[in-house]
Amino acid sequence: MSNQRITTHFGAESTAAEVIAGIDLTGRRAIVTGGASGIGVETARALAAANAEVTLAVRNLEAGERVADEIAATTGNRQVLVAPLDLADPASIGALVARWSGPLHLLVNNAGVMRLPALQLTPDGWEMQFATNHLGHFALAVGLHDALAAAGNARIVSLRGGGDASLGRRRHHRQCGPPRRDRSHQPVPLHVPRGSR
Ligand SMILES: NC(=O)c1ccc[n+]([C@@H]2O[C@H](COP(=O)([O-])OP(=O)(O)OC[C@H]3O[C@@H](n4cnc5c(N)ncnc54)[C@H](OP(=O)(O)O)[C@@H]3O)[C@@H](O)[C@H]2O)c1
Repeated sequence: MSNQRITTHFGAESTAAEVIAGIDLTGRRAIVTGGASGIGVETARALAAANAEVTLAVRNLEAGERVADEIAATTGNRQVLVAPLDLADPASIGALVARWSGPLHLLVNNAGVMRLPALQLTPDGWEMQFATNHLGHFALAVGLHDALAAAGNARIVSLRGGGDASLGRRRHHRQCGPPRRDRSHQPVPLHVPRGSR
């Protein structure tokens, strides 16, 4: 494994098509979580256009199949697959991991929920945004570790917003406390007290 920092001349306005231009991913296998909507669709499309095998790991299988068909039609790549995945459900993550065989070259942790209007907990008692965006993807990556290692030079890409960067994890935890069921829900801290910076 390399510790070398990856740098790029691409920026916030670069498109997926621009980033993937000239790259051939034939023989590479990718999973895009939440690949049935939004950024996930265009990420999957770009990977499929570069000839990768792409699995859309989605909650809504019907939407996943629809998007897979549409990507296959627009890219000419028939290797666009769909797998059920609910990141808030450890059993669902375990099932995807158990079904996966062979190497995995790219795991795109794209699925996520943001600023849920009211406190929602998973059956295990975790706050939904934390469980989905962080815990679920962490469990998925750990479960797929052997497949990623088997690829030789695999990559894990995790999407995130800017809010956590500007606030900082430590400050967020000081304000909101650990995201467990016994804490009150504060989805968007609007003010960071001077003393906690
Ligand atoms: N768009 C932006 O401006 C922006 C900015 C910063 C960061 N991001 C991050 O980029 C990623 C994609 O954003 P987006 O705008 O494309 O979001 P989006 O359109 O809301 O798509 C999110 C996807 O995550 C899936 N998802 C939610 N909970 C899930 C769960 N428990 N298990 C499996 N899948 C689940 C959703 O599936 P369902 O269709 O079943 O709900 C949906 O397909 C997110 O992680 C987001 O936080 C986006």
